[in-house]
Amino acid sequence: MGKINYIIIKANGNCNLNCTYCYYTQHQLSEWKTAYNLDLLEITFKKIADYTDIITICWHGGEPLLNGVDYFRKAIEIQRKYKLKVENNLQTNGTLINNEWAEFFKENNFSVGLSLDGNKETHDLNRLKNNTSSYDKVLDGLNILIKHKVKHGVLCYANPDTDSVAIFRHFVQLGIRKIDFMLPIISHHSNAEVDVEKVSNYFIQLFHEWFDLNNPNIKIRIFEDILSLLLGGKANNCLFKNQCGGFITIEPNGDIGICENHRINGFENYLLNKNILHDNFISIENEAHIRNENINKLSNECLNCNLLPWCNGGCSVERFFDGFKNINVYCRVYKNIFSNLAERIYVQPKK
Ligand SMILES: C[S@@+](CC[C@H](N)C(=O)[O-])C[C@H]1O[C@@H](n2cnc3c(N)ncnc32)[C@H](O)[C@@H]1O
Repeated sequence: MGKINYIIIKANGNCNLNCTYCYYTQHQLSEWKTAYNLDLLEITFKKIADYTDIITICWHGGEPLLNGVDYFRKAIEIQRKYKLKVENNLQTNGTLINNEWAEFFKENNFSVGLSLDGNKETHDLNRLKNNTSSYDKVLDGLNILIKHKVKHGVLCYANPDTDSVAIFRHFVQLGIRKIDFMLPIISHHSNAEVDVEKVSNYFIQLFHEWFDLNNPNIKIRIFEDILSLLLGGKANNCLFKNQCGGFITIEPNGDIGICENHRINGFENYLLNKNILHDNFISIENEAHIRNENINKLSNECLNCNLLPWCNGGCSVERFFDGFKNINVYCRVYKNIFSNLAERIYVQPKK
């Protein structure tokens, strides 16, 4: 049974930006538009400590930094009180980062994910505060993280209408060394159209730029996983694993869901009918396990595909339409990317 080892805490359901594409604000219940209060946090960590002594927490939102540094100081006190070994990650839009935040992150060994969609022009296509630019503030935040030597990486929304190579070069110039390019979260259910050629080229051109740069200190998460799979190894991250499980998300009122991307396919697919106020982790684990067993089943088309050992069906969210036994909405994109990269490094699929 999949033990829960990664918890996304929606520290605040509100955000100080209004990004046009945001899946969270588009799929949010009104009772989640609040901060995850400290009493609830105390209950949460007590229950985690009754279940395990080691856990990864991803502080998320909305915008987690809206809670203020003191909130997080108290969160660390609570973690220590229950003698938990916690790896703390935090995902932020970066606009509120100042020296005090950076000192806190450094002292408490946080890894910070910063959302940045490229240069000013591409970033401000979507990541706006009341229709005004957020780019300069994010850059200030990035430079403060760099100055204080806080562990950090950038999360970039892979917008196929933008130039991935120019975005990558910009990131390298800014001194960013860990980058995650994230495909728009869609499924057959969300009715989104995929321009297969455009999305494929976005990633293929990006790969060749990164590969030719030949700098092992600059990491792009999706390509590290693809290269590992092509060379017979395993993916680190869940996208190409077909092993949903181990993950839960807790909303600011204690409602519990599986991996939070499932919200785009309807709350019934996302929520577990559990709340941290009333349920313990064994019952949450049982419920998550039952849900994930169903999610990880693949269609015959996937099972008979010679690229299955590489993509493993892709993210289950992207396969959803009245169930998960469907081909992935990005299937042809993944085929193009894997085939192109395999050719570049001269490997053949094994059956
Ligand atoms: C929802 S935000 C929450 C945390 C924080 N406010 C931030 O901006 O990082 C987390 C990440 O999700 C990404 N995101 C939002 N909507 C998305 C979508 N529809 N598809 C893919 N990624 C999306 C954002 O770009 C951001 O990097």
